[in-house]
Amino acid sequence: MSSTRNIAVISVAIVVVFSLTARAYTEEVNTAELVNNPQKAALNWMMNCQGCHGVDAEGSPNGAPPMPGVVGKFLQVDGGREYLARVPGVAISPIPDDELADLLNWMLLRFACDDLPADFKSYGTAEISALRSDVLITQAASERARLLAILSTPDAKREALVKNTNNKTPVQNCGGAHGS
Ligand code: HEC
Repeated sequence: MSSTRNIAVISVAIVVVFSLTARAYTEEVNTAELVNNPQKAALNWMMNCQGCHGVDAEGSPNGAPPMPGVVGKFLQVDGGREYLARVPGVAISPIPDDELADLLNWMLLRFACDDLPADFKSYGTAEISALRSDVLITQAASERARLLAILSTPDAKREALVKNTNNKTPVQNCGGAHGS
């Protein structure tokens, strides 16, 4: 009897802690119109991604690569937008398509605001549904390396896009959380 009550109390405590942390995330990020439900996105991050990626997407040794300063840059090259939704951690997560789209948009605003192209368009549900069905089962590392190699090659198109990131739209203001 009392152990059942203890479990109930602990469960409530866990939910409260998650909700409070989710609120802290939400307040830091100006999600504007890009994220429908930032609180749900923050919860999904905690439950499904943070174990490998870290609270602040700092990565883990021999595990997920750090995101800050990197993840937004993938959007600057062809195939990068697709890559972010096709990596196994994203594509085969148990999260439904609409919430997964929201989560990726939230993740980019939170961890990559400084690198987003000014014309960044949020991921949509149908787009995520199509991309995640084309999961990079064995090719994630090689696709990642291919995209990073393009990013490190000076090329006119890429430089134009990179310059573009300095010209942010108000919606990409990170709310001061990243000093921008
Ligand atoms: C089991 C550990 C693990 C989990 C859980 C996980 N990831 Fe990952 N993630 C990785 C690894 C490792 C990579 C590097 C690419 C690869 O080898 O799959 C990666 C790459 C990524 C990338 C591409 C960025 C880059 O630098 O390559 C994104 C975006 C991403 N993950 C988002 C997520 C999201 C969102 C979730 C939760 C829904 C999630 N991941 C869950 C391990 C994980």
